Amino acid sequence: MKRAARRGPRPRRPSGLAEIVRLARAARESAHAPFSRYKVGAALRAKGGEVVTGCNIENASYGLTLCAERVAVFKAVSEGMRGFDAIAVVVDSPKLAAPCGPCRQILWEFCGDIWVRMENLKGRGVTRRMSELLPMAFDQGNL
Ligand code: THU
Repeated sequence: MKRAARRGPRPRRPSGLAEIVRLARAARESAHAPFSRYKVGAALRAKGGEVVTGCNIENASYGLTLCAERVAVFKAVSEGMRGFDAIAVVVDSPKLAAPCGPCRQILWEFCGDIWVRMENLKGRGVTRRMSELLPMAFDQGNL
């Protein structure tokens, strides 16, 4: 099948993703997932190179569970950080974890069109941009 024509040059892949994947793997070890037993680690990189990690934190009242991606974003924002360029998300599953719907909205609003590297513990992964994961996003520009 023919690929849809892309407007403008293909954006370059960012460097240093392996390092944030390594940090996301380590963060995953801290996951609190006694209910799903599905541990997730995330590492969010600021444009200046600083990295903030997150892991999923579950709760007996299931709806209060926080995803690893949101923990990383909220940790970073609460520390006064702004301007990000990539996030890594690591799981131990053949099927890679793409951020859930609410996390996509949060990532878009706080990080914009960043790179999202999804990888498993076997080192299999894919890299996408947020604009591919959340096309036609609703944000401040709509208000
Ligand atoms: N989870 C994440 O932390 N990130 C994702 O991208 C997908 C889902 C968590 C939430 C919950 O603790 C567990 O994985 C199962 O849904």
